[in-house]
Amino acid sequence: MPLSAIEVNNLKKAPAVDGVLPAVLNRWSPRSFADREVSPADLHKVFEAARWTASAYNEQPWRFFVGVRNSLTYKKIFDTLIGFNQGWAGSAPVLILGAANTKFSHNGTDNGYALYDLGAASSYLTLQAAALGLTTHQMAGFDHDAARQAFDIPADFVLGSVIALGYQGEPAALGHEQMISMEIAPRERKPLNQFVLSAWDTPASIG
Ligand SMILES: Cc1cc2nc3c(=O)[nH]c(=O)nc-3n(C[C@H](O)[C@H](O)[C@H](O)COP(=O)(O)O)c2cc1C
Repeated sequence: MPLSAIEVNNLKKAPAVDGVLPAVLNRWSPRSFADREVSPADLHKVFEAARWTASAYNEQPWRFFVGVRNSLTYKKIFDTLIGFNQGWAGSAPVLILGAANTKFSHNGTDNGYALYDLGAASSYLTLQAAALGLTTHQMAGFDHDAARQAFDIPADFVLGSVIALGYQGEPAALGHEQMISMEIAPRERKPLNQFVLSAWDTPASIG
């Protein structure tokens, strides 16, 4: 008998560290989504959070295509997903495709930070979603060429991820043993001393 959604959600939370934002600790990426729509007001809030992300030259290079279930936009995004992701992402009520302009609008030169800024905006979106009790799951597993074609995305734009958005569902609803075991597996992270450095290969002393 797999764990319930509530049990899994508790298991997935990062251990509390005093002062760290609750949304950071609570966000994780489920593959099972409940059969519950996301309100337009909440959708507005997650994109409002993305809107206020910092970006190089304040270019705000990101564009988000948002598809709610049963819309043509949703179908077009879903159709670009690789088979593994199609196996679970169809339970999400919202699918979002992120793209970013690789040219600066003020002078047309290359913006080498476009994808970086899109990633940052996507993170703001996921954290705002977590703060609203929503869940997100980002995906690299989609056909970029097909997505570009489906949305007439110009060559100057780079594609980021597809983001499934909705409410966490019951793990058992995944109906697939491998996915259920991934859904209920504890989350793992490297310790700080592996990536917070004072010199190459030297952990910083940050207390
Ligand atoms: C850019 C990016 C691409 C990802 N691509 C996929 C994907 O195609 N399919 C999938 O099931 N999960 C995908 N993931 C989810 C990651 O596996 C997941 O975020 C990671 O294991 C950490 O788990 P957490 O988000 O629950 O902390 C992706 C995540 C990111 C940020």
